[in-house]
Amino acid sequence: MPRPSLNTDPYSVILPENLVGLNKGKTAVVTGAARGIGKVIAEALAKTGANVALLDLDAERQAGTKTECEKIGVKSFAYGCDVTNYSRCKEVFAQIEKDLGPVEILVNNAGRNNRKPMAMEGFEEFWAGVELNLKGASICSWLVLPGMRERRDGCIINIASRAGTVNTPFAGAYSTGKAGLIRLTACLQAELAVDGFGDSIHVYALHPGAVKTDMTLPVHADVAERYPAMAEKWRSFHKLFKVLPSVCGQTCAFLSTGKGKVLAGKYFDCEQDISTVVAAGKEGLQGLYDLKVEFLGGLPNDGGTALAIDVKK
Ligand SMILES: NC(=O)c1ccc[n+]([C@@H]2O[C@H](COP(=O)([O-])OP(=O)(O)OC[C@H]3O[C@@H](n4cnc5c(N)ncnc54)[C@H](O)[C@@H]3O)[C@@H](O)[C@H]2O)c1
Repeated sequence: MPRPSLNTDPYSVILPENLVGLNKGKTAVVTGAARGIGKVIAEALAKTGANVALLDLDAERQAGTKTECEKIGVKSFAYGCDVTNYSRCKEVFAQIEKDLGPVEILVNNAGRNNRKPMAMEGFEEFWAGVELNLKGASICSWLVLPGMRERRDGCIINIASRAGTVNTPFAGAYSTGKAGLIRLTACLQAELAVDGFGDSIHVYALHPGAVKTDMTLPVHADVAERYPAMAEKWRSFHKLFKVLPSVCGQTCAFLSTGKGKVLAGKYFDCEQDISTVVAAGKEGLQGLYDLKVEFLGGLPNDGGTALAIDVKK
């Protein structure tokens, strides 16, 4: 199989001009849309013709995103919403349906990395980090999935992170929440398949790439003071953050149009050329772009029944 090229800028198949009008009149929701990657995702979806509902802690802070989307020529509404607050989300999603119609595309982008060792976090801070990354995306998904099931159509994109696939110190809450989000993506897709939806409702977990945003600023002063070597390592690592947020924005736009359904239920890294990955087909992607554990001697990960089968033999 060819190795996908890595990109810092939007490339060929994901360019806005190749996706114009493909979501015309559809309703898309983007969380954490006031700044950073979420803002760019909202604009990328607007360029496909979708009307965009923006959710962030503070509606006012989203005014810039709303104006950009409107300039593109679509309708846009901004709602002040903490995505970890179920009752507020319920109100907001009901209002979105009144303002723009049923939600056909949801991008769960709101997220946060505390970038602290767990020993320096109180439990509440640790758990708030897990919750924003996992509970927030779950609440929004739960609110749109019944409608998507009824219409047998819809797309959910969870903005995860490489951090959910690797073991790194100083990102415990973040990695835990993102790993859960990647697993949630796969389980949701599997259940949709059991219920006969196939990939008419398609769900993805994305790593946006290493993008310089407010979230990726250097570690807090108290952490740097206690762990200077780690802070220095992070500073040099940060210099390698070169991917433009539009790579993630345009990948979301591409996937929302249904052009990458072979990745449904999977984790994908936006830096990689998606056309090469899609061309690999279902068979080529078997066992790839998934969270997994492997065992010595190739023992199967079959839910713990290998022993029973061995004894029977
Ligand atoms: N920047 C990167 O390199 C990178 C890498 C991997 C994953 N990500 C993921 O990409 C997503 C966007 O990250 P970013 O770098 O643009 O971060 P950012 O901090 O610039 O933006 C996050 C946005 O989410 C909003 N938000 C925070 N808490 C919220 C809440 N409770 N309810 C609603 N909105 C809330 C913030 O106000 C902000 O507008 C996150 O999920 C992040 O984990 C980013």
